[in-house]
Amino acid sequence: MSPRFIEDVKRTHTCGALRQSDAGKEAVLFGWVASRRNLGGCVFLDLRDRSGITQIIVDPQESAGCMAAASELRPEWVIGVAGTVRSRGANANPRLPTGAVELLARDIQVFSRSEVPPFLIEDGVDAREELRLTHRFLDLRRPEQNARLQLRHRLVQRVRRLLDREGFLEIETPVLIKSTPGGARNFLVPSRLQAGSFYALAESPQIFKQLLMIAGFDRYAQIVRCFRDEDLRGDRQPEFTQVDLEMSFVAPADVFAVVEQILQEMFEEALGVRPERPFRIMPYAEAMERYGSDKPDTRFGLELRDVTETVRAHGGGGVEMLQKALADGGRVKALAVPPELPLSRAELDGLEEKVKEMGGRGLTRAKVAADGSWTQTPLAKRISPELRLALNGALEAKADTALLFQFGPARQVNTILGGLRLLLGQKFSLVKPGTHHLLWVVDFPLFERSEETGAIVASHHPFTAPHPDDLDHLESDPLSVRARAYDLVLDGVEVGGGSIRIHDSETQARIFKVLGISDEEAREKFSFLLQALRLGAPPHGGLALGLDRLVMLLAGASSIREVIAFPKTQKGQDLMSGAPAPVSPAQLEELHIAPVGQKNQ
Ligand code: AMO
Repeated sequence: MSPRFIEDVKRTHTCGALRQSDAGKEAVLFGWVASRRNLGGCVFLDLRDRSGITQIIVDPQESAGCMAAASELRPEWVIGVAGTVRSRGANANPRLPTGAVELLARDIQVFSRSEVPPFLIEDGVDAREELRLTHRFLDLRRPEQNARLQLRHRLVQRVRRLLDREGFLEIETPVLIKSTPGGARNFLVPSRLQAGSFYALAESPQIFKQLLMIAGFDRYAQIVRCFRDEDLRGDRQPEFTQVDLEMSFVAPADVFAVVEQILQEMFEEALGVRPERPFRIMPYAEAMERYGSDKPDTRFGLELRDVTETVRAHGGGGVEMLQKALADGGRVKALAVPPELPLSRAELDGLEEKVKEMGGRGLTRAKVAADGSWTQTPLAKRISPELRLALNGALEAKADTALLFQFGPARQVNTILGGLRLLLGQKFSLVKPGTHHLLWVVDFPLFERSEETGAIVASHHPFTAPHPDDLDHLESDPLSVRARAYDLVLDGVEVGGGSIRIHDSETQARIFKVLGISDEEAREKFSFLLQALRLGAPPHGGLALGLDRLVMLLAGASSIREVIAFPKTQKGQDLMSGAPAPVSPAQLEELHIAPVGQKNQ
């Protein structure tokens, strides 16, 4: 009777382990058949597991007993192979870490057969993402996908070890919580036991980590799943993971110090380099002015230039729309695209389309000629020569520079030019491959006006401390109040955000009032927090890192879906399991929910 694999014959090595120094040893490998080739009477197999690939050779002279089994094998069958490791000599494959050797099979056992998979299990496969997500367990077998999740594991371990060394306690917080106003839209979970009531899935542990500080835990950290019912993009998922932390008795610099060490650990694990500390700090206002974004990609120049005063000094240069923008309190800003980055007329038209997609009215532009005159622009005839020359000077325009203008409200001008800057950066590959920039953006406004409702809302969340110097105009001019909030930006992506929190109930009540949350509503929604703030709250602050985004950037992936084992699509669906899905009327009834259309019956 042949020996029984798994029970009697144990795995000796993984498929990525064997090296030249193992030649002559006996080995047993388990794995998936990645490929099978028949060559010169022999069968060659590539055997794959999560650690790599080993070549197996089945030679009729030496492996008579398993030749028949080997000839039957097909891709993705799961097998065990016992045999002798031998050197491949001159036939070594330098692309495989195991390429110096092969396993000469003596015994093969088939554990499991596979149907023909719907796509090839290999790197760079061109199968549609939907097909790959529908068969995610196959997609994850591909070496590059597998490697990303292994990297994610190693990064998480590094972070956990550091946080433990630094005295952080890992404490779990509830996922089923009370729905709170503001912030992201919550997923709701109907309660079976309390008819008509709902839990919300926590969008973050924010309130609970503050309560842990008030409870005296001093330093808390958690690698935690968060849930937000948002519109999805490449770097957003409805459930995602934060490295969440909170610390007592800290100023922003103390939080920065811990977070910078976390980033150093992660960079070292993923890329073998430790970024230099302290990281650069940039005020929000500067980021918006120079880059048109609160998460500037500082890896390339092409900064926004403000020419409002130049235009004003020339009374708008006879151009009505400029005069109107200034009269309305607007700004005039420009990107000067130098001749080294040539833009054809068609490309400029294409950029104008992008501006419209971004919500702008159009793209006022000009090409500067050698004599300083402007071409390819309706402004050519209208603008006064004085203003034209002044703008050429202010924007350091040379022959063939393209000037791209936006004018109007500052927020819109910055957003559109910031968006164009990123498009041009991509088009002309202005980022040197392999460069990474980390920076803190600080001094965010505490409040902003909601674009949807026009109401004043918290820019970060309603527990963020106002800048002490701005407290006197909290009520009279709330939009000018700065927050003690900070974001961490990596390569133009917001990878973390946090703040120093309010630790007294009076300030918290004032903030709720500015946000239009009535005393009654505040009591109803946050009574436990307000009470806790009256019962001995230490000054505290913290931050949450977006783990998925960080792993994406460090793995060089293009979407967070690539670094999440079972992600959802842009439409929030899990294509593999089919979630979300309708449920039976009986289930709804148990939850005291009537389908729409029946509610008034
Ligand atoms: P914030 O809402 O800024 O802060 O979230 C922190 C970080 O989480 C990441 N992130 C996301 N990643 C993937 N998909 C999403 N839908 C998503 N939303 C956010 C971002 C972001 O920087 N409680 C506060 C933190 C604090 O103040 O301590 C919070 O949740 O990288």
